[in-house]
Formats: sequence, C-alpha cells, structure tokens
Amino acid sequence: MTTRIAIVFGATGQQGSSVVRALLEDGTFRPRAVTRDVNSSSARALAQLGAEIVSADFSDKDAIKNVVTGAEVVFLVTVPFSPVSPEDVQGKNVVDASKEAGVRFMVFSTLPGVSELSNGKYTNATHCDDKEKIRKYIQASGVPHASIGTGFFFENTLKPFAGLPLEKTDNGYVWNAYARPGSVTVHTWVTRDMGPSVVALFTKYTTRASEIVGQYFVLGSARTSFEDFAAELSKALGAPVHFKSAGKAGFLPLSDMFDSVAEYPWYGEVDIPDPRLEKLGVKTGTIEEFGRTVFKSHLAE
Ligand SMILES: NC(=O)c1ccc[n+]([C@@H]2O[C@H](COP(=O)([O-])OP(=O)(O)OC[C@H]3O[C@@H](n4cnc5c(N)ncnc54)[C@H](OP(=O)(O)O)[C@@H]3O)[C@@H](O)[C@H]2O)c1
Repeated sequence: MTTRIAIVFGATGQQGSSVVRALLEDGTFRPRAVTRDVNSSSARALAQLGAEIVSADFSDKDAIKNVVTGAEVVFLVTVPFSPVSPEDVQGKNVVDASKEAGVRFMVFSTLPGVSELSNGKYTNATHCDDKEKIRKYIQASGVPHASIGTGFFFENTLKPFAGLPLEKTDNGYVWNAYARPGSVTVHTWVTRDMGPSVVALFTKYTTRASEIVGQYFVLGSARTSFEDFAAELSKALGAPVHFKSAGKAGFLPLSDMFDSVAEYPWYGEVDIPDPRLEKLGVKTGTIEEFGRTVFKSHLAE
C-alpha cells in the first residue's frame, strides 16, 4: 500500500467525500479524512471504504498540526459563517500547520471574493470573501498550491437550498432559488467532479508543475442561466422543470452573492469546462447526465 498521505478536510461533506472516494479509487495516495466526529455515520462510511479517519476542528491548531504531520498533500475546503474573528479566518490554521509540517502541495476549494469583484458594491458575502482571504494567505505563505473555484452546485436541486424547496406541480416541478431571472453563472456537479479534479492535481503537481502550481482553476460543467439549467433537467426528466426566482434572499450574505452573480460575471475570463483541467484529464459531467441519473432517482425516492 502507498505511503503517500493526502489530507482531506471537510471529508464527510459533499466536496471532501468526493475527494476521498476518488483518492481511494486512484490509489496513488492514502486519504486521511478529517472530521470533528470520528463516530458519525458519514465518518464511519468513509472508514469502511478504506480511509483513515482523524479528528480536528479548524479552530484547533494543535489538532490540525497533528493531522497534517507526515502528509505530502492537503485538500482544504472551509465552511461558511463559522464563529471566527476577522483576523482568524477559517483555514488559516491549516495553512500555518501545513507550512510548519512541510506539506508539499495544497489544493484549496474557493469562491470569488465578492467585495473585490463588485468593486466594493457588495460587501456582505463574507462566505465568499473569506475564501479569497485564505487563497491570498496561502499564496503569501509560500506553500505550493492550486485553487479550484466552484460555481452553483447541481446538488442544490436535491434539497431545500437556502430554505427553498423544489415544488411538485400537476405535470412537473418548480425549482425555486434566489438567483435573479436571467442571471448566468457557472454550475458545478461537485460530488462527481471535485474528486477527480483534485486527484489530477495531486498526481501531476510534480511532473506538470508549470500547468498546476499557482493556478486558479474553475470547476464547472457549464456557464449558463438558471432557466437553461432547468430546461436541461426537463429534457433529462421528460417533464417540465421551471426555474422561479424567489427574489432577494433575506440573508444579506446570500443576497449579495446572488446580486454579484447577476452583475459581475464570476470567473469572467475562463471557458467552462475549464480547458486547463480538461488537459489534465478531467472530464466533467453534464447537466443532462445529472438530471437523468441523480435528479431523476432522487425524485423517485
Ligand atoms: N452550495 C453551493 O452551491 C456552493 C457553491 C460553491 C461553494 N460552496 C461552498 O462549499 C462549502 C461547503 O462544502 P460542502 O458542501 O462540501 O460542505 P458540507 O457538505 O456542508 O460539509 C461540511 C464539511 O465541513 C466540515 N466542518 C464543518 N465545520 C468544521 C470545523 N469547525 N472544523 C473542521 N471541519 C468542519 C464537516 O465535517 P464534520 O461535520 O464531519 O466535522 C463537513 O465535512 C462552503 O464553503 C460553501 O460556501 C457551496
């Protein structure tokens, strides 16, 4: 068995579990999955698949140092709205500990800094701004790294996103979300595509360093409107799915995020799917495929 260790933060979540599964499938690295509760059902499920399970909270630098020690690579995803001070943005402990432990390469899952993107117009999307702060913190730390920017997750259609459920109508579905009508953004099938993307970067960061280290990739299947996303789901399902804008979210971070999406193109210059990831062997799934497989069977449950 390989002795090369990959740390996966957020391992029990959508992104991290995708990374753990892809690492196990690939076999180059041994995944060490980080959770706050090693006895949770999701942690035990990862252990059953063959991952090592370790415990640490982002706020506990000593615990983080323990888990990253001996690792070659780290996948980091932070989670929004955690009770940390502006000086102690979530993820900082992971960067500091990784640097001290001599981690060779880190992949950070991120979002655009909305304050900067909107030239100071939308300053409440702290869940996005904090990620941009950490991205810059990693850059300044000197730890070799790459970032993966994500879009709106396909998986948001499977559960009430921001409290808004999918509605059943007489012959189809209404998908409610806070996005403005006509706004176009990147859409990401994160549980399918994050894992293989991270594996591509982890397994090639030394042999194809110039294409990977220091890069800011964008993970997405399409750059499209919410209306067109729903139309693709309709095709896959054989029943109409209509997108309905729910207006402005009552929660300022979310309303600022959706306003920024409508007015300032996220990842403006990058083609979606990102050709740089495709060159590294990443082939993202399509909206139609998601509709035909995951979405359809979810509705049948
Ligand atoms: N929904 C979207 O459309 C969208 C789009 C782009 C980006 N995002 C971003 O995606 C991120 C969430 O990723 P996800 O969906 O994979 O997460 P998720 O499924 O909600 O899971 C959260 C993960 O974070 C871990 N975690 C939570 N608090 C922690 C703490 N204090 N210390 C250590 N670990 C902690 C949890 O582990 P345990 O509970 O096991 O400890 C769990 O593995 C968010 O930052 C969000 O902004 C979301």
